[in-house]
Amino acid sequence: MCGIIGYVGSRAAVPILVEGLKRLEYRGYDSSGVALVGSGGLSIAKAAGRISALEQVIDLDAPQSLGIGHTRWATHGAPTDINAHPHADSSGRIAVIHNGIIENDRALRTYLERKGVVFTSETDTEVLAQLIGQLYDGDLEQAVREALREITGTYGMAVVCADEPNVIVAARQGSPLIVGVGKNEHILASDAAAILAHTTQVVFLGDGQMARITPDDLKLTTLDAMPVANDVEKIEWSLDEIELAGYDHFMKKEIHEQPASLETCLRGRVDTREGVVHLGGLVDCARDLVRAKRIILTGCGTAWHAALVGEYLFEELVRVPTEVEYASEFRYRNPIIDDGTVVIAVSQSGETADTLAALKEANQRGALTLGVVNVVGSTLARATDAGVYLHVGPEIGVASTKAFTGQVTVLALIACYLGRRKHMSPAAASQFIDALEKIPEQVAAILAQADKAEVVAEAYCKKDNWLYLGRGNNYPVALEGALKLKEISYIHAEGLPAAEMKHGPIALITEAMPVVVIATAGSQYQKIMNNISEVRTRGGRVIAIATEGDREIAKIAEHVLYVPDTIEPLQPLLTSIPLQLIAYHAAVLRGCNVDKPRNLAKSVTVE
Ligand code: F6R
Repeated sequence: MCGIIGYVGSRAAVPILVEGLKRLEYRGYDSSGVALVGSGGLSIAKAAGRISALEQVIDLDAPQSLGIGHTRWATHGAPTDINAHPHADSSGRIAVIHNGIIENDRALRTYLERKGVVFTSETDTEVLAQLIGQLYDGDLEQAVREALREITGTYGMAVVCADEPNVIVAARQGSPLIVGVGKNEHILASDAAAILAHTTQVVFLGDGQMARITPDDLKLTTLDAMPVANDVEKIEWSLDEIELAGYDHFMKKEIHEQPASLETCLRGRVDTREGVVHLGGLVDCARDLVRAKRIILTGCGTAWHAALVGEYLFEELVRVPTEVEYASEFRYRNPIIDDGTVVIAVSQSGETADTLAALKEANQRGALTLGVVNVVGSTLARATDAGVYLHVGPEIGVASTKAFTGQVTVLALIACYLGRRKHMSPAAASQFIDALEKIPEQVAAILAQADKAEVVAEAYCKKDNWLYLGRGNNYPVALEGALKLKEISYIHAEGLPAAEMKHGPIALITEAMPVVVIATAGSQYQKIMNNISEVRTRGGRVIAIATEGDREIAKIAEHVLYVPDTIEPLQPLLTSIPLQLIAYHAAVLRGCNVDKPRNLAKSVTVE
């Protein structure tokens, strides 16, 4: 959702701000703007629509070397030029950009209006700008500090003032901020992607922290002005990883990166010979984890689907009762957390508002909390007791692909790590790890036949309703396949456990309906073949995902996309790949904006 960039140094700020805003585009936005400070004072330019609209209204050659920029995803007020950030105070000397939501903005607006302040926008952010303007008495940092004492809600924010042309003041409460440390310059951003072109040395702001940033100084304090010293950390992501590198879309690139991303995810974590999984992030809590009586996995969207795959893995390998909860439901339903309950939050971004709220609830109720997260230093990663990073690299396409397989892989690693400490024999663990280690090359083999998925997409992309069916470990894959298709191609698709079809959805099946059935070898193969017959009897068009060598299925399915054989608990890592490819090609064929589907944002940081 909204994005923040700020620059203070010796170079011209505008090119850095505009490039940073473009790097943040993937998060989703509907307007953008910049504020510059220099000898001529404060100037602001903003525009609804794409960043190209902003480029029409700013001076691209402006000399100022201090500025802030913002991409806005409307929450308070329509996506108009006026509501776009930055927002200035009435004096026109202070400008604010802000991610998050100020909950007491109504009360503060009324208070300020009584003092004669005239507002120009409908946003909560202007309240912040006006409040800082009222409190400003020659010290921007102090004015921001005082203003934030009056604020309830969440924010990642940056403020500049015409009277302090060398200073950006930033603060964080629940919405990420990172400061890139360069040579005589600092770059502030809400997302590492906006900084990487300039530096990989960064300082993560913690919640309740403020930064006063000048070209050669970065002063960090708490909101109460106590000094803090956060380490300078290195971002492991490279610039190549956030660029298209010759691919048409990030989604395609990220699908094809999976053999490499999964290899990185596994690197140094498995030892087949000894049948051991090494997870440094869990060492300190391993004893408590082994004693866990119940595991709750939580997340949203694709991460929730990965958690469902995790449920099968945990119950099979760890033999501990495991439940999966939508984070948005968990947070509001007075969850029962006993002694011995472990809550594992799954998230690519580590910034999803519902997942963070669920985690907070779990922490407050005394659960041991773990994070399965991709973005290093994200809010979720900081708010858990322990965790395991995915290490699959940045995911830019809005539709989650390599993060899904990374999440499932990490959950498989955790399941084996715990299983081995409980009752799994070394031989069983070795067998499991051996299968896991083969996954990257097996994914590569599926991707080598990507054209077959394209043929399926071509045949059915004009159909407006699809069904996805799976059983057991592959039931979550059916849900994920349907989500991928609907979110990027706008085709209505439903995923179901195959046997559920008979209890209602079978009424939908006509000759017009493509039905994707995951029918890989395993304990439920015969059952799923029966489901295929039921679909065929009603004229449905079956697209089967089957195990290589299965010739029977070709006799009853219209199309078969083959995947290599693996053990049942790991099949989702393979069966999900053709479904990602079908969704991708269907969206391209329908002329959809694959990487930025309508109404969607990469990280959903509001409720
Ligand atoms: C779908 C998708 C979303 C996310 C969900 C959670 O392709 O990307 O459903 O999975 O919004 O996001 P994270 O994983 O960042 O918490």
